Amino acid sequence: MASLLLLSSLALLALAAPPLEDSNVLRSRAVSDTLADLLNNLQDGVSAKDIKQSILPDYWSIPETKAITKALGLNETGIRALPLEFLNIPGYANYTSQGWNLRIHGMSYKQALSDPGVVSNRTLDKAANKFLPDFDVSQLQPHEQDNARNLTSAVLSLPQEGEGLSFTLDVSEGQDFNSGWTGVVEWAKTTDSRGEIDGFVQLPTNNQDDLPDGNATNAKVVQLNVHTNGTNTGNATAYLVPRDGITIVSDIDDILRITKIYEPKEGLLNSFARDFVPWMNMPGIFANWTRQHPDSPYHFHYLTTTPEQATRVYMDFIYKTYPLGSFDTRSLNFTTVDQTFSVRKTLLNKIFQTFPNRKFILIGDTTNNDVMNDYPELVSTFPGQVQCILLRNTTATDPGDKFPYNTKGFQSLKQEQYMFFTTSDDLIGLDFGNGDCRNASAQMGTVDFSWQGLPLKKSAAGGRVRGNTWAALIVMVAFVVFL
Ligand SMILES: *[C@@H]1O[C@H](CO)[C@@H](O)[C@H](O)[C@H]1NC(C)=O
Ligand SMILES: *[C@@H]1O[C@H](CO)[C@@H](O)[C@H](O)[C@H]1NC(C)=O
Ligand SMILES: *[C@@H]1O[C@H](CO)[C@@H](O)[C@H](O)[C@H]1NC(C)=O
Ligand SMILES: *[C@@H]1O[C@H](CO)[C@@H](O)[C@H](O)[C@H]1NC(C)=O
Ligand SMILES: *[C@@H]1O[C@H](CO)[C@@H](O)[C@H](O)[C@H]1NC(C)=O
Ligand SMILES: *[C@@H]1O[C@H](CO)[C@@H](O)[C@H](O)[C@H]1NC(C)=O
Ligand SMILES: *[C@@H]1O[C@H](CO)[C@@H](O)[C@H](O)[C@H]1NC(C)=O
Ligand SMILES: *[C@@H]1O[C@H](CO)[C@@H](O)[C@H](O)[C@H]1NC(C)=O
Ligand SMILES: *[C@@H]1O[C@H](CO)[C@@H](O)[C@H](O)[C@H]1NC(C)=O
Ligand SMILES: *[C@@H]1O[C@H](CO)[C@@H](O)[C@H](O)[C@H]1NC(C)=O
Ligand SMILES: *[C@@H]1O[C@H](CO)[C@@H](O)[C@H](O)[C@H]1NC(C)=O
Repeated sequence: MASLLLLSSLALLALAAPPLEDSNVLRSRAVSDTLADLLNNLQDGVSAKDIKQSILPDYWSIPETKAITKALGLNETGIRALPLEFLNIPGYANYTSQGWNLRIHGMSYKQALSDPGVVSNRTLDKAANKFLPDFDVSQLQPHEQDNARNLTSAVLSLPQEGEGLSFTLDVSEGQDFNSGWTGVVEWAKTTDSRGEIDGFVQLPTNNQDDLPDGNATNAKVVQLNVHTNGTNTGNATAYLVPRDGITIVSDIDDILRITKIYEPKEGLLNSFARDFVPWMNMPGIFANWTRQHPDSPYHFHYLTTTPEQATRVYMDFIYKTYPLGSFDTRSLNFTTVDQTFSVRKTLLNKIFQTFPNRKFILIGDTTNNDVMNDYPELVSTFPGQVQCILLRNTTATDPGDKFPYNTKGFQSLKQEQYMFFTTSDDLIGLDFGNGDCRNASAQMGTVDFSWQGLPLKKSAAGGRVRGNTWAALIVMVAFVVFL
């Protein structure tokens, strides 16, 4: 059993290496090597070219249902007795000639680790410890212990296939628009093998005043409540987004919260134990943006490639700290090598295609290679839709950030279409409704369009950077094998 699990984790580990020229070598070597050899190899370091995007997402997706079920000693009867839960991810809707077209996406699952009747607290803590290098859950503060157990339990939830779902919707109270409309959507397909559904549905209406006119000048984003049948856990807000206006798309890790993804041990502690902490005064900046144009307020969309299982923890933090808005995380159905590295692109393309008339502000930081490629690429793929790309230069404030990043994608952009910034104060007063993007008084160097922050010559010859990037990955391999 262990070898089977080891193989599947190694396959996934190899997955984390991008499809570059030496990735096949790396993959076949990883699968055939012993764990000890693998550890030795990885401790040497990893090619700068191999760092395609932030690392946290990749090892989080390692455990699979079968592996979890086996490792936790669960049986059919025990699983059947658990309540069905549904993660309803807040979606956006566009206005078409047939009315509102709403994206519903989410995942049905069961959470074996949250119920001490099925899995003991001792087992849960043992699992949580695997995510906490150098620490034992018992050494944490009580609320940190809760956080660690909470996220561990979520990450190890069991997706449920073949579930039929229906949703009831109504207009949220306390808005300018209130028609008393309610609707029911029966989802046509049952959940797939990963427990997921994802698609658009036309909202049912009886007359044209039931829902707002999304083509009207100065139309506002209207919120709907969405409830999922058969569970208390499937409530969400959906956003009816007008045809015209500005949408702010923001990543979360290391831009809206302190993660330090580039220091894996810190990254794990900040994700699995500590409370989520905002980065600088980004909450104040975002709060000001909500008030900037009351006649046509911005639509906020949070797009992170964190695995779907961690979505609740991310949403919980965002909605307590930042303006309400729709959400996207890494769906579980990105399984091939290519898909794993194109999650962000797929999600960005989807929202750009859904709102061809809106202007987009894209926010992120330099530690994500997919951000560095995908954001500027949208400028040519969707002409006229990108107003501004704002990227936190993580290295400028955080010398611990050793992730190299490539600014090449920005070479063909006009200077007024993007800004690399240092502190959240650099964003004060930017008015997107007035077409702003750059802050003339912020300290900015000239951008050299190539790889930045590559390791010193000696190691660069072998294209190697520090191997601790991968230490966290090894933790997960150990977890799946030895739990
Ligand atoms: C199945 O799991 C349940 C709950 O964990 C347990 O009470 C029961 O004894 C198990 N049955 C078998 C046959 O292992
Ligand atoms: C809204 O405007 C678009 C053109 O941008 C048009 O195709 C669509 O039919 C309009 N919708 C309604 C309901 O009038
Ligand atoms: C397990 O932990 C939860 C809180 O994390 C606690 O409420 C519960 O009493 C614990 N169960 C046992 C059997 O210790
Ligand atoms: C699976 O991935 C594709 C992108 O490759 C996406 O369009 C689709 O909505 C995803 N989810 C489901 C449940 O099909
Ligand atoms: C929820 O609705 C779907 C579709 O109508 C149905 O197949 C399913 O049985 C319902 N689930 C519950 C728990 O009522
Ligand atoms: C979800 O909504 C239903 C219906 O309004 C409500 O009864 C339930 O308490 C809500 N669940 C949660 C977790 O808030
Ligand atoms: C928010 O706006 C107020 C009023 O324009 C301004 O004084 C303040 O500096 C702004 N704060 C941030 C963090 O943007
Ligand atoms: C676990 O996380 C969820 C979502 O963030 C939150 O609603 C819940 O209160 C958390 N539980 C604990 C014990 O922290
Ligand atoms: C609405 O969104 C769908 C799904 O992305 C897209 O195919 C369609 O073209 C959009 N319609 C309009 C009018 O923008
Ligand atoms: C980021 O900051 C570092 C350190 O201040 C600087 O060397 C680098 O040129 C900056 N990168 C960009 C793209 O502005
Ligand atoms: C620009 O950046 C400076 C320094 O970070 C800040 O004081 C100022 O408010 C920012 N905004 C504008 C519009 O200049």
